[in-house]
Amino acid sequence: MGAPLTPEKVVDRVLISDEEIQNRVRELGREITADHVGRDVRLVTVLRGGLFFLADLCRAVDLPLQVDFMAVSSYLGGRPGVVRITKDLDDPIEGAAVIVVEDIVDTGLTLNYILRMLKGRRPASLEVCALLDKDVRRIVDLPIAYRGFSIPDKFVVGYGLDLQGFYRNLPFVATVRDEALQEVL
Ligand code: IMP
Repeated sequence: MGAPLTPEKVVDRVLISDEEIQNRVRELGREITADHVGRDVRLVTVLRGGLFFLADLCRAVDLPLQVDFMAVSSYLGGRPGVVRITKDLDDPIEGAAVIVVEDIVDTGLTLNYILRMLKGRRPASLEVCALLDKDVRRIVDLPIAYRGFSIPDKFVVGYGLDLQGFYRNLPFVATVRDEALQEVL
């Protein structure tokens, strides 16, 4: 594999700017704060994409809280929506107010699987905070308590979202040029 394409060759259009993201994250943080006073709050995210959103969001929540991480991978050739846990949460969540923090919800299959699994651990509440919602692609209906932005059915990179592992560190969310997509997909 050669050097990755530079962001200039990959980015088609900035869909959500750095400033828009930061403003919305602050609003979501205020909402979560108001709704969770006095609770045992756990912000839980799925590596690696959700890490960037979680890092900003947890600092916008003005409450004592804990963060925890999990990682999943899809079973190659397996049933869609069935995922394998490659890293589980470190702490039990029984009785906690759990908020699953996601960078993007697309078909919803991955998140649906994760929510069902976490529900079995008997948290006091289980909610979702998603920065981006590609709702037109949804296959399973999911309750999203906190939503950053609804976006169209376009492949996006930045702010945690990747194309073959790259471009997560872009501070904005951008659509990808067709030529760049064709080169890798
Ligand atoms: P779902 O199970 O279809 O909802 O898959 C969600 C996962 O697909 C996300 O956590 C992302 O890793 C990935 N994904 C979906 N859409 C995009 C995109 O536009 N850019 C980058 N990754 C995406």
